[in-house]
Amino acid sequence: MDELLNVKYDVASGDFIRGGEASSNIKKLLQQLGVRNDIIKRICVACYEAEMNIVIHSVGGYIEAKVFSDRIEITAFDNGPGIENIDLALQEGYSTASNLAREMGFGGGMGLPNIKRSCDEFYIDSKVGEYTKIKIIVYLK
Ligand SMILES: Nc1ncnc2c1ncn2[C@@H]1O[C@H](COP(=O)(O)OP(=O)(O)OP(=O)(O)O)[C@@H](O)[C@H]1O
Ligand SMILES: [Mg+2]
Repeated sequence: MDELLNVKYDVASGDFIRGGEASSNIKKLLQQLGVRNDIIKRICVACYEAEMNIVIHSVGGYIEAKVFSDRIEITAFDNGPGIENIDLALQEGYSTASNLAREMGFGGGMGLPNIKRSCDEFYIDSKVGEYTKIKIIVYLK
């Protein structure tokens, strides 16, 4: 396939210092590739929210970015605890964030709704006790 870029960053659970680094690295790479700013913005919103969800809610995982000639795909995967009720998790304002995460400014329950809004295609798959996987696609034209 016409894959122009394929990068993968590990994301650690509870690491508020490094949380966000994967997204900012991906942003730089997209800028270097000359991707349009409005598209970078949409990707970065989704990527950052997915990354911070791994930091805040999971035991750790990774963010992967793939650039093709016609689209950008971001995959966020983590190894649990998974989401029991995905419909509920997608509702604005729903959050199970810890007190610590709330003190750090997270827990508004807006991450997943913002991810969904910012992309052209959104896929979420999760199994309780096993994993959560989010994939988003933004088209370049
Ligand atoms: N990777 C994940 N693993 C397990 N649960 C998750 C994961 N991502 C989201 N969730 C669940 O879905 C809920 C909603 O997520 P969302 O990102 O919309 O809000 P939030 O992270 O709680 O707050 P905000 O994103 O506004 O800081 C979370 O509170 C959590 O219960
Ligand atoms: Mg969130």
